[in-house]
Amino acid sequence: MACVVVVGSQWGDEGKGKVVDLLTEGVSGIVRFQGGNNAGHTLVVGGEKFILHLIPSGILYADKTSYIGNGVVVDPEVLLMEIDRLISRGVEVGPQRLRLSERAQVIMPYHKALDLAREKAKGGAAIGTTGRGIGPCYEDKAARVGVRVCDLLEPELLKAKIEANVKEKNFWLTSYYQEPALDPAAILEQYLAYGRRLAPHVTDVSLELDGLLKAGKNLLFEGAQGTHLDIDHGTYPYVTSSNPVAGSACTGAGVGVTRLNSVQGLVKAYTTRVGGGPFPTELLDATGEWLRDKGGEFGSTTGRPRRCGWLDAVVVRHAVRLSGITGLCITKLDVLTGLDKIKLCVAYRLPDGSTLEALPASLTRLAQCQPVYEEFAGWRDDLTGIRRYEDLPQACRVYLGRLSELAGAPLTLVSVGPERESTIMLKKVF
Ligand code: GDP
Ligand code: IMO
Ligand code: MG
Repeated sequence: MACVVVVGSQWGDEGKGKVVDLLTEGVSGIVRFQGGNNAGHTLVVGGEKFILHLIPSGILYADKTSYIGNGVVVDPEVLLMEIDRLISRGVEVGPQRLRLSERAQVIMPYHKALDLAREKAKGGAAIGTTGRGIGPCYEDKAARVGVRVCDLLEPELLKAKIEANVKEKNFWLTSYYQEPALDPAAILEQYLAYGRRLAPHVTDVSLELDGLLKAGKNLLFEGAQGTHLDIDHGTYPYVTSSNPVAGSACTGAGVGVTRLNSVQGLVKAYTTRVGGGPFPTELLDATGEWLRDKGGEFGSTTGRPRRCGWLDAVVVRHAVRLSGITGLCITKLDVLTGLDKIKLCVAYRLPDGSTLEALPASLTRLAQCQPVYEEFAGWRDDLTGIRRYEDLPQACRVYLGRLSELAGAPLTLVSVGPERESTIMLKKVF
């Protein structure tokens, strides 16, 4: 029995989908534990591309079960669309293969409307959210007025909750944001229909996972977003509204902390960020554009161009500490092929000449941080066919070795292409 958590070490889009799909081979269950359809996880299998937003990235394996835990915020419309889309592509997504926590919070139309209205009102100070209603849904959870998946199956309770919520939200939408009001009766009808369709999937995920663990099975926990988008530990307020750090796998799935065995930290071989907020190693020059083009750095969820920059070991080391990362999974190393020089940020320098080796909480202070770079030789070899670490060019190994040393965690795997097979395994995970 082993429980492994996969987390993003940067600002999301590190390639979690690819790695989760790859590691699924060794497990019985794959569990999403936080976030919602703000995530966009890409898998490329047999030349076919799948982008998943809510359904765990293990769904392509016919003999595994996927779980959406209580910590996830679920937009039922998106979930049903995702199920239908997978079925139309020949993937089996029956109720026994996809289990949905009865305790998960439900994203309602007013969450999406408020997310968009708030962003619009913020103008230039907008967070750059995905507009999927994630923040307002987690707000309602904390305010104890949220709709849970189990409520979709209780018409009277759902009616009362929707009426009370819409009354208050309509006040904000119309009087404060000058947006149109929503109709509670239409929402009720729509959400009761979603409930009827989702009912066969609804379960106590914590109990089912406990059953698998007692039977000696392995589980994989699939983080969404990344460490520096964490509501507590990220670059607040330019963060998401959940905890993408590994500890949240326990609260977000209902699994005890003593059950977790290891944490794999996903690290893109350079850095990207979508939306607003600090990004010390951002490249606003031709190299940044080159990385965006070569890496295909456009959002899997919103299609927005991703901001690009050099790899930041301060960011990765911070993530190793926060999530107790035991191994690093490096992705997109192939994208760096062709650069003459590659830079790696090893610390930050402040205007008074002092250096910092962790991200400060204050964004004012973070804005003053200048990256201190070490420079590495590039390589021109095509990496995509390489399957053994020792076959990588010497320059790659020097770069990755230094990253591992600075981050304080060993390498587990190196990904050299989007396909499942384009992977160099250094260590067994299961
Ligand atoms: P996630 O949100 O962490 O799952 O990452 P995304 O799916 O949003 O973005 C990662 C992108 O990089 C996807 O288009 C993947 O297909 C692609 N990708 C993953 N690993 C590699 C790799 O090693 N090399 C290349 N070239 N692309 C990769
Ligand atoms: P995956 O799982 C990258 C970013 C948004 C925005 C901020 C808040 O694919 O790595 P939200 O809609 O969550 O309130 O937006 O967080 N963001 C992501 N960036 N990858 C993601 O997910 C993200 N999910 C949210 O761009 O800056
Ligand atoms: Mg993504």
